[in-house]
Amino acid sequence: MKNLNIAAKIIICDYKELNSIEKNVVNYAKEMLKNSYSPYSSFRVGAAVLLSNNEIISGSNQENAAYPSGLCAERTALFYANSKFPDESVSIIAVAAFYKGDYTKEPVTPCGACRQVIMETQNRYNSPVKLILYGKEKIYKVETISDLLPLAFCTCVKNNNSKI
Ligand code: THU
Repeated sequence: MKNLNIAAKIIICDYKELNSIEKNVVNYAKEMLKNSYSPYSSFRVGAAVLLSNNEIISGSNQENAAYPSGLCAERTALFYANSKFPDESVSIIAVAAFYKGDYTKEPVTPCGACRQVIMETQNRYNSPVKLILYGKEKIYKVETISDLLPLAFCTCVKNNNSKI
């Protein structure tokens, strides 16, 4: 028997340590959470993705009376980005959350389903997706989604989305 020890690299930094591109994507996420529809949780989340054509697409969480029908901010942003710009890879996703009158102190970390979707995007374009997870007191910077989803499920079918 052997152990498989898995390590994740996560950089802890603050806003002023981000470069101007990273700050810009974070600002979009913070702004977009104002459009959150979250009457059930009151937990507002915004996500913004930077694409290889330099477009920034953002999204917010959208809830529903039938709870599972809602969607997280990350997937709202990513699915829209991939729908509108299917040929552009995603280089950064930034996420921010607002609860009880303020941005969360702790960085907001994507749920398992969002991690799987971010991983699909990374695999699809064969290009690392960096995460910038905003918190008022600290920011987590993660260079690739692989650090947040070790041993991810993957069919290993790459670039197989035929054009019509
Ligand atoms: N939520 C997100 O939008 N992203 C996350 O990473 C975690 C959770 C949303 C789902 C739900 O609308 C609310 O936050 C409370 O869970």
